[in-house]
Amino acid sequence: MNKALRQAIIAGNWKMNKTRPEAKALIEALVPYAEKASCGVVICVPYTNLETAIALTQGTNIKVGAENCHFEKSGAFTGEISADMLTEMGVEYVIIGHSERRQYFGETDITVNKRTKAALEAGLKVILCVGEMLEEREQGITEEIVALQTKIALMGLTKEQIANVVIAYEPVWAIGTGKTATSAQANEVCAFIRQTVAKLYDQATADAMTIQYGGSMNENNAAELLAQPDVDGGLIGGASLVAEKFAVLLEEASK
Ligand code: 13P
Repeated sequence: MNKALRQAIIAGNWKMNKTRPEAKALIEALVPYAEKASCGVVICVPYTNLETAIALTQGTNIKVGAENCHFEKSGAFTGEISADMLTEMGVEYVIIGHSERRQYFGETDITVNKRTKAALEAGLKVILCVGEMLEEREQGITEEIVALQTKIALMGLTKEQIANVVIAYEPVWAIGTGKTATSAQANEVCAFIRQTVAKLYDQATADAMTIQYGGSMNENNAAELLAQPDVDGGLIGGASLVAEKFAVLLEEASK
């Protein structure tokens, strides 16, 4: 398997952080760092910051993503945002199935599949999140959980469609906890996800897929994680909120 076949992508997931003035300041600080990066650079921001982010990243190599979208095209779904609303604005990426959506907002593998389909049909690129909880790892069922999440999320999608899917392996126990998976653990599960995709589609499709690690990745541990053969970048929470920290990740992923 050749890591050079695929693009490493560093994506920030801002979660529920940054007002518009704060977003403007952060993006302006990020632009010069991103210009030096050869990896893909994505910032996934709250809906209220999308317009600001799109305007400030025009003509730069930073792509803008949302943090979720609904599966219906329109209708009586108070508080939701459709994939078409995002593409119309110029949004290119969307995170689907983040563990915080699954844990706190009742997201299931089935709704993750529906949202993934809707996003791809609208022309968005999807960052699909999968990952086990601590009790599941301790029970020795990490692979079963991650395989099931991956297989259900990709149900009904063609090979052509999944060329627009990035998978982010985010062990729930490593998110926002400061506890990072070891580079060996991260690589093992990313490689397992790649095998799962190869079985569902074919090896070439799996080899071409960007599979990121996420969970307390920061300026201190990124080099080791990103050097792993099956880790193609990262989905970054906390460290994406500080330009100088995010810059280190971009530099490491560009090596
Ligand atoms: P942290 O980097 O803050 O652990 O968050 C990871 C994450 O959930 C990215 O989606």
